[in-house]
Amino acid sequence: MTSVNTLIVQTPAASCDVELAKGPWEFDQLPGYGPGASENDRIPEPVVRPGQLPAAYQRMSDEELHARIRAAKETLGEKLVILGHFYQRDEVIQYADFVGDSFQLANAALTKPDAETIVFCGVHFMAETADILARPEQQVILPNLAAGCSMADMADEDSVEACWEDLLELYGTEPDADGRQPVIPVTYMNSSAALKAFCGRNGGIVCTSSNAATVLEWAFERGQRVLFFPDQHLGRNTAKAMGVPLEQMPMWNPRKPLGGNSVDDLESARVILWHGFCSVHKRFSVAQIEKARAEHPGVKIIVHPESPMPVVDAADAAGSTDAIRKFVIASQPGDTIAIGTEINMVNRLAAEFPDRTIFCLDPVVCPCSTMYRIHPGYLAWTLDGLVAGEVRNEIVVADDVATDAKVALERMLAALPR
Ligand code: 13P
Ligand code: SF4
Repeated sequence: MTSVNTLIVQTPAASCDVELAKGPWEFDQLPGYGPGASENDRIPEPVVRPGQLPAAYQRMSDEELHARIRAAKETLGEKLVILGHFYQRDEVIQYADFVGDSFQLANAALTKPDAETIVFCGVHFMAETADILARPEQQVILPNLAAGCSMADMADEDSVEACWEDLLELYGTEPDADGRQPVIPVTYMNSSAALKAFCGRNGGIVCTSSNAATVLEWAFERGQRVLFFPDQHLGRNTAKAMGVPLEQMPMWNPRKPLGGNSVDDLESARVILWHGFCSVHKRFSVAQIEKARAEHPGVKIIVHPESPMPVVDAADAAGSTDAIRKFVIASQPGDTIAIGTEINMVNRLAAEFPDRTIFCLDPVVCPCSTMYRIHPGYLAWTLDGLVAGEVRNEIVVADDVATDAKVALERMLAALPR
C-alpha cells in the first residue's frame, strides 16, 4: 500500500497543507513544547525541541531506522508497551502492541501493569492520560513532543475558569429540588490534563467520542445543564441525538462577554458548547456526501462525530474511530463505504478489506498533522534511549493536576460506550 507519507510527498498539491510535503525535520521546526500540552507539564530534561532530533537520526535511511526500532523492541521485550492510535501513520503503527480509539487506549494504559514504559504513538493529551492512569513507577513517552492536538489548544485553563466564574455568577451554586447542580463541566478527552483536573474538582467528567452519550446522561442526572468543551461538534451531535433542541445549545466564545450570549440564552441552556473544532473533521461537507451518493449508488456513509452537524445528519452513521472500524467489519464483500475521518485510518481499512470499495469523503489527503509528527526517526531515538537506560521525551503530569484529573478520568472509564 502507498503510505500517506509517500502520497503527500509525491503530490503535495493534493494534500490539505503543502507544509506537510516538506521533509519531516524541516516540517517539524516549530518552537515550543507542542500544541495541546498542559501548562502544568514538567518540561523533560534534556529538552529536545521539535526539529532538534539528533542529526544522526535525521540522516538515517528508513531501513536503518526500522532495523533499530525492531532491535530495541526485541531487547526491551515485556518492559515496553507501544500504544498507537488509529490515525497513526503505517510506518509507525506497525510497531504498536495495541491499536485503538482514545477510550480503548486509556484502558490499554492500565492493562500492562508490568511494562516499565509506555511509548504512546498518539498525541499529547493521550500520553498525559496514560501517565495519569498508569502505575506511578511506569513512565510514559511521547516520541515527538510536538505531537499535540490543535483542538485541545482551543480551550485553555484560564478561559475555562473565567467562563465557569461567569456561569456560577449567573446560575448560583445551589442545587435544584432534585439535587441537581446548576451546571456540570464535561471535557472531551482531547484537552489538557489541567482541564481534566478542572472537571474532577468541579463534579465533572471526561468523555471520548465513543461514550459521549453515556457521559451526557451521567451529567444530566447530576446537573441541570452541561458546559461541554472543547469540541462544539461532538457536544452538539451527541446532545441533539439525545433530543436536546438546538436553541438550548448556545455556543461559548471565550473572547466575548458572556461567551457572546444573552442572559436569557444562558438561562434556558441545556448544553453550553465551547467554540472548538477539529481542523481535519471540519473539512467534511454535505456536498461531499451528495457527490458520493451520486457517484456510488448504495454507498454506505459513516463519519466521526467531530464532523459538523449537517454532515452527521446526512451520513448513514456516525461514531468513534473504533465504531467506524466496526462498521466496516460488519459490512459485506462488494459494499462501497465512504468514511469521514482521518486519512491514515481510512487507507488502512481500505487495504485491510480489499473486497470492499472504501474511500475518504474528502478528496484531499489530510492527515492529523500533529499525529503525523511521530516519525519513525523519533520512535527509533526514544527506543534507543530506553535501551541505553535514558528516558527521552517523558510526559509527566504534576501530582496535584493528576490527582484531580484521575477523578474525572475514572468517571469516564466507568461510563461505558454503548
Ligand atoms: P477517537 O476517540 O474516536 O479515537 O477520536 C480521537 C480523535 O482525536 C479524533 O479526532
Ligand atoms: Fe486533534 Fe483533530 Fe488530530 Fe483528533 S484529528 S488528534 S481532534 S487535530
